[in-house]
Amino acid sequence: MDERSGFATRCIHAGEAPDPSTGAHGVPLYQNVTYAFHSAEQVDAMRAGEAPRFTYSPRGNPTVRCLELKLADLEEAETVVATASGMAAISATLLALLAGGGHVVASDEIYELTRTLLDRDLPTYGGRATFVDASDPAAIEAALEPETRAIYVEPVSNPLLRVADIVAIAEIARRRGVLLVVDNTFLSPALLRPLTLGADVVVHSATKYLSGHGQVQGGFVCGRRDVVGPIREKMVMLGGQMPPFAAWTLLAGIKTLPLRMERHGANALAVARQLAAHPAVARVNYPGLEGHPGHAVARRMLDGGRRGFGGMVSFTLVDGCAANRRFLNALSLCTIAVSLGDVGTLAWPWHGRDLIRLSVGIEDGVDLERDIAAGLAAVETAALVLAAR
Ligand SMILES: Cc1ncc(COP(=O)(O)O)c(C=O)c1O
Repeated sequence: MDERSGFATRCIHAGEAPDPSTGAHGVPLYQNVTYAFHSAEQVDAMRAGEAPRFTYSPRGNPTVRCLELKLADLEEAETVVATASGMAAISATLLALLAGGGHVVASDEIYELTRTLLDRDLPTYGGRATFVDASDPAAIEAALEPETRAIYVEPVSNPLLRVADIVAIAEIARRRGVLLVVDNTFLSPALLRPLTLGADVVVHSATKYLSGHGQVQGGFVCGRRDVVGPIREKMVMLGGQMPPFAAWTLLAGIKTLPLRMERHGANALAVARQLAAHPAVARVNYPGLEGHPGHAVARRMLDGGRRGFGGMVSFTLVDGCAANRRFLNALSLCTIAVSLGDVGTLAWPWHGRDLIRLSVGIEDGVDLERDIAAGLAAVETAALVLAAR
């Protein structure tokens, strides 16, 4: 691998080399807690910074370190810290950036626990948040205050899939001297690398597309050393480190990320079109559809959509919640489950809204089409029966 290597090559090789002591191909799982020194002098040299060494796994572990180097390469970050979950990454980031108070302007449609952290917990540490529609950069700028330290957005919102223009928001952040934090969970670095567009910090729930197989929890914070350094310290204080086994599992998952993301995107576009063409469906939210209000921004931001627009689709049925139940109960391939980014398609009725969110997987497109068609047929049949009464 060299500086000309493409993204797929870097997903496989970045941060990795055969193990120097055994020649093992693929990063070994270092499941130990502590590290042996052969002499007191070696301890002195480590403490003086002359011969850096791992000392204690919660402060640094070779398997986790290899994963951090891989992600730094993929997100084009100076440094990356791996965490135990997406929320560990997000809470360490916000608590470090807002230490001693301050204000954050955040998207009004973000992951619900991030919203709760900003809304409920942050004020107990002296911080404040204002929530705005992040698909409107002017609304973000208007919400900035003298005490604002950061803007916090998800490029594609959850569950309505509104698109935030990261280039425009990064320009506002730079001009107004605040940091831009982007949660890149929904798109992953295979589709979007926010740091290259001017963002200062990228956070991830690695539990989703980076893992890809729904087997592991994890998170990342990526950015410049001067910004991520204090976040790493906060994360260590909070005990939010990624365990070595999770890192080892993620090293494997990330190797197929670009292949999976393209397939997620192709399947999601086909499902979105299938839903949009059906009379039982009132509305489909997918940034890859030409009629979606964020389509032009998404196309610009995601390299013309060459690798797709991601795997998340949401939709509303004409007959509301009762129809949602019929649709979900008629599915046999898709699983009724929360979470996202899994190789298998997950369908979830959104609490408090007439909305179903699909995390479209990488199954064969024809099989997915058949399953979605069965769901829609169940809705249609019920509507006909009701109409005939
Ligand atoms: C966009 C987004 N960010 C962060 C998180 C939190 O990640 P985790 O569940 O790994 O803590 C989630 C979880 O669903 C998410 O959807």
